[in-house]
Amino acid sequence: MARAQLLFPKDFLWGTATAAYQVEGNNTNSDWWVWEQADGRILHNQKSGLASNWWANAEQDLDIAAEMGTNAHRLSLEWSRIEPEPSVFDDAALGRYREILQAMHQRGIEPMVTLHHFSNPLWLVEKGDFNSAVVVDYFRRYTAKVVDVLGDLIPKWVTINEPVVYVFMRYLTGDFPLGQHSGWSGVMGAIPNLLGCHAAAYHTIKEKLPQAQVGVAKNMAVLQARPGSLPLSRWWAGRVNWLFNYMWLDSMTNGRLYFPFGRRPIAHLAGSYDFIGLNYYTRFYVNFPPLGGLVSDRWEPGAVVSDGNYGEVYPAGLFQIIESLLPYKKPIYVTENGVPDKADRLRPSFLMTHLREVWRAISFNYPVMGYYHWSLVDNFEWDRAWTQRFGLIEINPETQERSWRASGRLYQEICRSRSLTSQQAEKYAPELMQTIFTGSDPANYRADFEAFLAAVPDVKPMEDDRLDSGG
Ligand code: FCB
Repeated sequence: MARAQLLFPKDFLWGTATAAYQVEGNNTNSDWWVWEQADGRILHNQKSGLASNWWANAEQDLDIAAEMGTNAHRLSLEWSRIEPEPSVFDDAALGRYREILQAMHQRGIEPMVTLHHFSNPLWLVEKGDFNSAVVVDYFRRYTAKVVDVLGDLIPKWVTINEPVVYVFMRYLTGDFPLGQHSGWSGVMGAIPNLLGCHAAAYHTIKEKLPQAQVGVAKNMAVLQARPGSLPLSRWWAGRVNWLFNYMWLDSMTNGRLYFPFGRRPIAHLAGSYDFIGLNYYTRFYVNFPPLGGLVSDRWEPGAVVSDGNYGEVYPAGLFQIIESLLPYKKPIYVTENGVPDKADRLRPSFLMTHLREVWRAISFNYPVMGYYHWSLVDNFEWDRAWTQRFGLIEINPETQERSWRASGRLYQEICRSRSLTSQQAEKYAPELMQTIFTGSDPANYRADFEAFLAAVPDVKPMEDDRLDSGG
């Protein structure tokens, strides 16, 4: 076959993403740390421990990120380190963040910094955190401190990571700390306050740093009724889709709450974002009636599903969702996209097929400005702990040893050439040769994956699987 190359724009950002609690280690003032200590909350009672050891040595992985050819990285700050007691700020912690951010700049890696990524200072939880309106002032004050001390090093900001996922996991499913499992009333209480926090942070940043780009990272999934469903379930799926995917964006755009969260305006919220950060992982079918939860974890026959029944691999959905964001008329960054795949069976194809959808969007002149793969390195995956490995680089959490997965080498070739090429496919994902370089319909990916998987021998657990089996 002729050589082919799908080229990306020169100024496209090639990134990876991490979050503080998941990589830093020893975040003892965080609500997650306390949560981890009791049995039965984290799969196999695993612990974050040193995580990926970034507090001591983020630099070693930033070296890897530079070697990979990336020019951007999304990381988060741990509020509980910066403000371990209310209004007591820790200069040493802020100093360490300065070092890490400087280390990124020195390596040609542009930081995108998230202020809140799922974890809270313990003192905030005692004060009722997102169910109490005082959180808005606390979040404003924390943001102001970060802007003062670190703002000169941060061109791009994410206020809150996946707000809707966060409130669902925290209040509805109870999988996140601190277990005040207050159900829908908790969700209802938290949404207006989280929107208030976002607006407060947005303006606090922009007042001092008018050039900064500020947005949110919004998890969006393809949510639909199963093919052949009755009109009522299709209507219901439409409601769930709006609630999960678009409610937050509509509120930020129009500056108000929507039913069922109320109808009132929220001060300074309208238009308070410069870009949309899109975290895209998967597609779900919506349950109707919603008895077993809002979404189903039963896949259609033949679906390619990643480790731990995490979700279906569905690259076409990335294009669909990007297209659905066009009415908001904002630049789009893919702020997370990845797959739990310890053995790296799916990730090379996953990477190429999803990036191919980004390339397709760009070729329609859709404003996709960058891509941050989740994740650079294996890390502590919340309640799934070390059982779900998202890294381009594998980490053995016991020895802290790093090794490149094939997908890491592939991403290196992609970043360095700013393109997807038929040679990469030949080398890393030959099953894609007949699809992404021949212009056939992306719906065929699934057939290609199936053929590929059928040909792959079953994976044998590797040596350092001990942690995965609860050891
Ligand atoms: C996202 C989270 C991130 C990580 C990935 C796998 O929802 O933002 O912290 O857990 O999923």
